[in-house]
Amino acid sequence: MSEFPIFLKLAGRRVVIVGGGETATRKVRLLARSGAALVVIASQATRELCAAAAEGRLALELRPFDPADLAGAALVVAAPEDGDAEIAGPDDATVAAVSAAAQAAGIPVNVVDRPGLSTFLMPALVDRAPLLIAISSGGAAPVLARSLRAWLESRLPARLGVLASFAGRLRRAVAGALPATTTRRRFWEALFAGPVADAVLAGREDAAAARVDAALASADPVAAVDRAAGRAADGVVHLVGAGPGDPDLLTFKALRVLQEADVIVYDRLVAPEILERCRRDADRIAVGKAKGRHSVGQAEIEARPVAEAAAGRRVVRLKGGDPLVFARGGEELDALKARGIRVEVVPGITAALGCAAAAGIPLTHRDEAAALTLITGHGKDDREPAVDWPALARGSSTLAVYMGLTVAGRIARRLIDHGLDPATPVAVIVSGTRADQEVRTDRLGGLGALAAGLVAGGDPGPALLIIGTVARRAVASAPTPPLAAAV
Ligand SMILES: C[S@@+](CC[C@H](N)C(=O)[O-])C[C@H]1O[C@@H](n2cnc3c(N)ncnc32)[C@H](O)[C@@H]1O
Repeated sequence: MSEFPIFLKLAGRRVVIVGGGETATRKVRLLARSGAALVVIASQATRELCAAAAEGRLALELRPFDPADLAGAALVVAAPEDGDAEIAGPDDATVAAVSAAAQAAGIPVNVVDRPGLSTFLMPALVDRAPLLIAISSGGAAPVLARSLRAWLESRLPARLGVLASFAGRLRRAVAGALPATTTRRRFWEALFAGPVADAVLAGREDAAAARVDAALASADPVAAVDRAAGRAADGVVHLVGAGPGDPDLLTFKALRVLQEADVIVYDRLVAPEILERCRRDADRIAVGKAKGRHSVGQAEIEARPVAEAAAGRRVVRLKGGDPLVFARGGEELDALKARGIRVEVVPGITAALGCAAAAGIPLTHRDEAAALTLITGHGKDDREPAVDWPALARGSSTLAVYMGLTVAGRIARRLIDHGLDPATPVAVIVSGTRADQEVRTDRLGGLGALAAGLVAGGDPGPALLIIGTVARRAVASAPTPPLAAAV
């Protein structure tokens, strides 16, 4: 180990930053979180630094560096900039002088990207205060350290700091109730791995505190905070949106609950690449529903998560797109609540948003579309959906049609009959955001034939129709008529 990591207390102490460009500004943002009294010395400064100075959040001195500036400083940072930077940083002679003066005075100094002039290195930081993770590659591979930081950021719950603070407030009570070090350590281990931590991370601190109080008052506090204790009460169902297919479009929260789940109950529409991101030893239950092929009935789909959660397991009910958009998630939510099961919804990127982004279509546009309407091509029991066709044909709304491919001709007819121009651009996006994505464009008058061609060879995969002027911007993956000229 060529550097020894420590965490410095800087609140209220003088920290000098030499330089006022973008690099200096980034360092100031970071150092400001420590509560240090920041002094920036520079010939020029960014707007952000000037604003911070005007608001009294730091002292900004627009003049050359003087070694006397370091008197009483706890830390010094010099931030040179690249040659083409808009605001120039300190030159080589200045940063060398800053480093020499700081070292002579025994003050830790960092010159950004110059390890040879630095006596300490700035780590890549994951901040879940009071929990902090500092990562350093000793200057050997800063980009690797930053990648690791991004990886950790995506996996650690945002409320981890709240959990650390919660534990901090309990320390005295736990030490009083459990004087033996080993028992105390086992208590904390059980607490962080069990339902108390789950409750804090889910924002239910009151429930967590009540459970800790009860545990500390019981004969065996370690067993009482363990996951095994009161299992049935700990069952939970996360109703999670898997997004349209690209696993990178999962939210951080979805990824985390997928990796913590005991059971995953998933729909046919969920891409295999997403299932690969789930906890390896979780039980996986497919409740595959395909159009016209209901392999598992809705009643059974609703019963399964209920039964698993009632047995105290952490269940993820995984649905394509967003779980509450054309996904019968509302019915499942009602069923879980009716049986008193704890349920949390983790939203996902719905097909309209994912497909539009993947096809390069802005769903709204100041000149072309003032609203976005999501409709389904299939109503309850496969009846025609009860939508207001005259209003849809009249407005300047972009229309995103789910489950509409096999009835695309009928939808086009309804809209044209109610006055929508047959030359209105349309796009059909099949398997949007996935590796086999296909985008076709046409005009409303040709939508029926386009869709019929797509289904002629069998089920082409999930397909979304986008109808509206904005669809002319779609980046099609097959030859199409010259739409832009037609609009
Ligand atoms: C039962 S709905 C589920 C919608 C989902 N809950 C959502 O928010 O996207 C299924 C329909 O969503 C659309 N869909 C879902 N994923 C898609 C994708 N990757 N590409 C195109 N359409 C998709 C298709 O219209 C498909 O028939």
